[in-house]
Amino acid sequence: MSVAPTTIRPMTVPEFHSARSRGVRLTMVTAYDYTMARLVDQAGVDSILIGDSMGMVIQGHPHSLPVTLDDILYHTRCVARGVKRALLVADLPFMTYQVSKEQALTNAGRLIQEGGAHAVKLEGGERMADTVAAITRADIPVIGHIGLTPQSVHRMGGFRVQRQENQLLADAQAIERAGAFAIVLECIPTEMARRITASLHIPTIGIGAGDGCDGQVLVLQDMLGMFDELHPRFVKRFAEVGTAIKQAVEAYCHEVREGTFPGPEHGFK
Ligand code: KIV
Repeated sequence: MSVAPTTIRPMTVPEFHSARSRGVRLTMVTAYDYTMARLVDQAGVDSILIGDSMGMVIQGHPHSLPVTLDDILYHTRCVARGVKRALLVADLPFMTYQVSKEQALTNAGRLIQEGGAHAVKLEGGERMADTVAAITRADIPVIGHIGLTPQSVHRMGGFRVQRQENQLLADAQAIERAGAFAIVLECIPTEMARRITASLHIPTIGIGAGDGCDGQVLVLQDMLGMFDELHPRFVKRFAEVGTAIKQAVEAYCHEVREGTFPGPEHGFK
C-alpha cells in the first residue's frame, strides 16, 4: 500500500489577510530559535513573530530598545530553517525605520532577503503611515502595531494600558490606509479594541486587548511559564515549562552526583 506524502500548505499573506472575512481566528506566537520554531510550527500556529521582545526574554534587558537589526536577522534565519507552514513576521527594531523611509525600506528588505521573513512588523500609528506605505510599495508586506508600543517605553513612562480612543482609531485607520495587511493592538481596553477592530477591514491581532480582536499573539516564554520577571495580567500560562525544566535539571544533577546516570544502557560496548 502506498502512503501519499502529507502536503503542508504554508500560510500566505493573502490567506492571513482574508481570515477575518472567512470567520477564522488567527494565532501568532513569538519564537527566536530553530527548536522552538519547529515545535510551534508543528503545533499549527498561523504565524511566528521574531519579536524584539527578544530583548527581554532572550537577551535579559529590561526592554526591547537594545535589540539590533543584526539580532533580528540572526534569529529570523534560525527560525526560518525550522518552519514549514507558519507565516514568518520579523520585527523592525528601534531606530531601524524611524530615521527615514529609505532606511526603513532598506532594513525591511534585509529581513525578507537575508532573514527569510515573509513580512515585517513596525510600531507606530499616523506618524508611521508614510513609512508603511513606502515599504508596502516595494511589495514587502507590513503588519502595524499600535497601543502599547514597547519601543516608546520612555515616552510612555513605562508599559501602560493605552486609552486615547480617538488617537488609537486614527492610528489604526492610517496604518490600514497605508497598506498594512494586519495590525497588532497591544494593551488596549477590550471594548475599545473591539470598536477599533470593527472600524477596520484588516485583521487585528490582540495582546492584552481582549476577545474582540481577529486573532491573538503571545510571547512564547510568557505563555509557557518560562519567564517570571514580568507578570502581565493578559498572559495565560498554558504550561509550566519553566518548572518542568528546573525539575528535569535537578533530577539530572542528582543522578550524576549519585552515580545513577549514565547507566549501562547509555554507554557503548
Ligand atoms: O516583540 C514582540 O514580541 C511583540 C509582540 C508582543 C506583539 O511585538
